[in-house]
Amino acid sequence: MASPSTPLGTSFLETHRRSHTCGALRETDIDARVILTGWVQNYRDHGGLVFIDLRDREGVTQVVFDPGLSEAAHRTAGELRSEHCIGIVGKVVTRGSNKNANLATGAIEVWATELEVFSKAETPPFPIEDRLDTNEALRLKYRYLDLRRPKLQKNLMVRSQITKTVREYLAADRFLEIETPFMVKYTPGGARNFLVPSRLNPGEFYALAESPQIFKQLLMVAGYDRYFQIVRCFRDEDLRLDRQPEFTQIDIEMSFIDEVQLQTTIEGMVAKLWRDVLGREVTLPMRRMTHAEAMDRYGVDKPDLRLDLVLCDVTAPCRASGFRVFEGVVAAGGIVKCLRVPDGDKLSRSMLDGLTDFAKPFGIKGVAFARIQDGGVWQAPFAKSFSDAARDEVNRIAGAGPGDVLIFVAEKAKAANTCMGAIRIHVGDKLGLIRKGEFQFMWLVDPPLFEVDDDTRQVAASHHPFTSPRTADEDLLETAPGDVLARAYDLVLNGVEVGGGSIRIHRSDLQARVFRTLGISDDDARAKFGFLLEAFRYGPPPHGGIALGLDRLAMLMAGADSLRDVIAFPKTQKGSDLMTDAPTAVAKKQLDELFIQVKADLPAKG
Ligand code: AMO
Repeated sequence: MASPSTPLGTSFLETHRRSHTCGALRETDIDARVILTGWVQNYRDHGGLVFIDLRDREGVTQVVFDPGLSEAAHRTAGELRSEHCIGIVGKVVTRGSNKNANLATGAIEVWATELEVFSKAETPPFPIEDRLDTNEALRLKYRYLDLRRPKLQKNLMVRSQITKTVREYLAADRFLEIETPFMVKYTPGGARNFLVPSRLNPGEFYALAESPQIFKQLLMVAGYDRYFQIVRCFRDEDLRLDRQPEFTQIDIEMSFIDEVQLQTTIEGMVAKLWRDVLGREVTLPMRRMTHAEAMDRYGVDKPDLRLDLVLCDVTAPCRASGFRVFEGVVAAGGIVKCLRVPDGDKLSRSMLDGLTDFAKPFGIKGVAFARIQDGGVWQAPFAKSFSDAARDEVNRIAGAGPGDVLIFVAEKAKAANTCMGAIRIHVGDKLGLIRKGEFQFMWLVDPPLFEVDDDTRQVAASHHPFTSPRTADEDLLETAPGDVLARAYDLVLNGVEVGGGSIRIHRSDLQARVFRTLGISDDDARAKFGFLLEAFRYGPPPHGGIALGLDRLAMLMAGADSLRDVIAFPKTQKGSDLMTDAPTAVAKKQLDELFIQVKADLPAKG
């Protein structure tokens, strides 16, 4: 519908240019004639005046329609409903003593002289507001409405600022942005791949790249020193709050560097991100922690350092403590891990008893605890069986004193650490000891190069098979692979792994030894990675790199709880897109073209 000043035969936008966003106007703009566009957040009719809150991604402005100013605009305004998309022309007026302190534009309002309704909206399935308890499935189905919410709009703006800042920083440091293929050769091992059938090569498949790893190494061989790419990666994994099947990496590779140089480059980038996007300073250099220390003190390879509680190993005094349960576990090769919690009276009996249920999913049968009384004496069901000497030694190792609670788990090292790591966070959270609002960075360094299966002794690469062993550990490759540490590093922030990388092997003799340790035969290696090994015959430079998870960084920087809150169109836990209903079945004709047969007895879609 044409508004009064829109000449016949032209549309509103041909004659009116938006002058401000809905978050821009301040007292300094009073008396200005402005043109705003956006969506109707809400509307009220007060004594002949119609008030609306007009919203765009930058904010909300109150607009007033007075029949004395424009009868036509006022009449049309009376028919406005939530989420109608409109444009207005008007004058900025002070709100005097009626200022709205909760709104950036709260000092002013716009008295409208023209109103153009671009399109009407049906009643949306949920209100567009941040305090929203609508279930997530409905929000994902109507994602374009969900994305109108200020919180999600802020999150996506943070994400956009991150990529802009990353590009600025890396370009200034001589990095080249180079794209690599998504459709790549399938190689077994690593994450499970999505497959793409090739119509032109019947019966053959591409894999969707789980990362550009091999290509970025080939770019180093090709002399494109200092590569980066903000790149989509695809992994067919079980999904969690911090995992999506397609996610984005800030992928980096550099030649002629060691790990310290690479880490320094990344630290500079992170510091600039925090400064430019969040206005906060990051203390550099970041803390380094060995994998061994992380497992020992935090039970995980990604400690959350916003919480000061630490674990300790009390296996030694428990070995001959008199307490049969602990003695048995230690005799069978297990360990006893202990967490000291100060101000233990805040931990209620039911909270402590609940830890046993909490521990069950970790394969742990029981969690023991003791309250420390005067003189270091324990109040615990098993206190009588524990010798005084063993108890005093446990107290000494844990640094325990009266008022503390000690929590124990006795198990095989891996299970005990994982469980106690989780208990540490659980208890810390319950007691409010995790310092929200803090950003605690650290580099996890010196992880094992291989994972050796306890029972089968089978060796697998912890990271990927191109990761370099520490020079000092090369001699152990054949004799004690489980003891070889890697020139690899993870960047950890608040208990989340936000990045991981390594210095790569560039000597073919060393690569061959690592493949042999992994049980990959020469023929196998040629079949899987032949092109890389071939390339390494032509003067590969020493090189290394890292990939940061952009989605995870954005989640932490935006203060979001889930990756879904920083991805415009995310997938659910089951890998579905509820808006488009992907994935779907396809017609038999299409499958025939690809020479694919689908089993008749497919499981039902759940
Ligand atoms: P890695 O597998 O450790 O390393 O991945 C690097 C970072 O990517 C993020 N990430 C994910 N984010 C969301 N959803 C997922 N499913 C997901 N998987 C990983 C994490 C992780 O730290 N090519 C190597 C890097 C290198 O060596 O340079 C690689 O991909 O934040």
